[in-house]
Amino acid sequence: MSIASTPPSFHRRPWLHAVPDRLPAVVRADLVPTLSGDHLDHANLDHAASTPALQRVARAVETASATYSSVHRGTGWLSRVTSAHYEAAREEVARFVGAREDDLVVFTRNTTDSLNLLARALPRDTDVVVFSSEHHATLLPWRARDTHRLPVPATPADAEALLEDALRHLPRGTARRPRQALVVLTAASNVTGELWPVERLTTVAKRHGARVVLDAAQSAAHRVIDLGALGVDWVAFSGHKVHAPYGTGVLAGRRDWLDAARPYLAGGGATAAVSERGTRWTTGAARHEAGSPNVLGAVALAAACATIREHRAVIADHEERLTEALLTGLRAVDGVTTYSLFGEDHERGPVVTFTVEGLDSHLVAAALSAEHGIGVRAGKFCAHLLVDALLEEDDADLPHATAVRASAGLATTEEHVERLVRAVAQLAAEGPGAEYVEVEGEGWVPVDDPRELDPALPW
Ligand SMILES: Cc1ncc(COP(=O)(O)O)c(C=O)c1O
Repeated sequence: MSIASTPPSFHRRPWLHAVPDRLPAVVRADLVPTLSGDHLDHANLDHAASTPALQRVARAVETASATYSSVHRGTGWLSRVTSAHYEAAREEVARFVGAREDDLVVFTRNTTDSLNLLARALPRDTDVVVFSSEHHATLLPWRARDTHRLPVPATPADAEALLEDALRHLPRGTARRPRQALVVLTAASNVTGELWPVERLTTVAKRHGARVVLDAAQSAAHRVIDLGALGVDWVAFSGHKVHAPYGTGVLAGRRDWLDAARPYLAGGGATAAVSERGTRWTTGAARHEAGSPNVLGAVALAAACATIREHRAVIADHEERLTEALLTGLRAVDGVTTYSLFGEDHERGPVVTFTVEGLDSHLVAAALSAEHGIGVRAGKFCAHLLVDALLEEDDADLPHATAVRASAGLATTEEHVERLVRAVAQLAAEGPGAEYVEVEGEGWVPVDDPRELDPALPW
């Protein structure tokens, strides 16, 4: 029996299963210049801030650009194609977050926008409970007088106890004016990368009849989000942290509060009827998406979600190895302190925040870039209360009380992590290899920098 005459069925093609899953490719950066005049492969250890675009995302944008036309209101064929792309992107995102049948997926600009949208949609008399350790996007949008801030917890059990206690003591409201509660949780810390005990905290919230919104900005690229399985009411995340471009985010979840709220933006697309007598607003996602939507952003985000969903296992494996290498490498360097919220062995994503004894963290980050071609982040990472709490424990005298964050991902290789650990060890032992000066508004910059920042413009 020849192969040509009887093609094997899909299930019997052994080579399909034998081919190992490959990491999805990102659009690679150019080589980056260093002070010595060398050009190095950019060591991207700044994924927690923003992730480089996937090649599949770039292709999806190019493909959708070819048929790009008006969306929703046009009758031409290409308008119908564009509208179909936009709504299919919504469905892909719904799959990505495990949305329930009746959940809405609202396209926003980013996580900050999503949480501000929800904050504006809260019914009157809603108490908000939030941990102080949150990113500012998650900590700050809520009406101050109804917000109950919990201290930075020391352990997951501590977090549960704090939440339990806060919910038990919330003002009760009256039969005529009942109060509701919203618990704001984060899936993974943007400072330490540690995973929060979302399931356990959601169970506590539900026991008290409170709703839950989950900030998944730091976890969406690394861990499965499943609204239904978690029992979480809403989830928010950003395209630029899941290998799609800036400018698109998501708020997905229960429709009732969103349908009852004033539209986030007033304008076309959010209306059901407009007359001289007044405006009737539509319901559903469109109520909060007034104005012409960011179709290419939604397409890009959907392509990223689909790719991550299809390659979860290989991505997890890659990140686990890099996380382990980062942690063991940095912890072994004399003079380096790494930080954790729930203990060194707590499960975390590929993020490690550290300080180098006697060196300003911004100077460390500047030297890593200028001398070693490594991109990290220094500062308080928009989580001032958490960073203050973490640093106080170990080194209250640290200059400016800031830290360095190394965060790995799809564009990070093992060589990048090795280079980082070597460079940090060198900095800790000998200080920077060049002279730097602190310039107002720019931070630490090398004295006599021969490199000129004159990038070729992409258009
Ligand atoms: C945990 C967390 N939440 C929210 C945000 C805000 O995301 P965006 O700037 O995309 O709105 C960030 C960004 O760093 C984050 O890390």
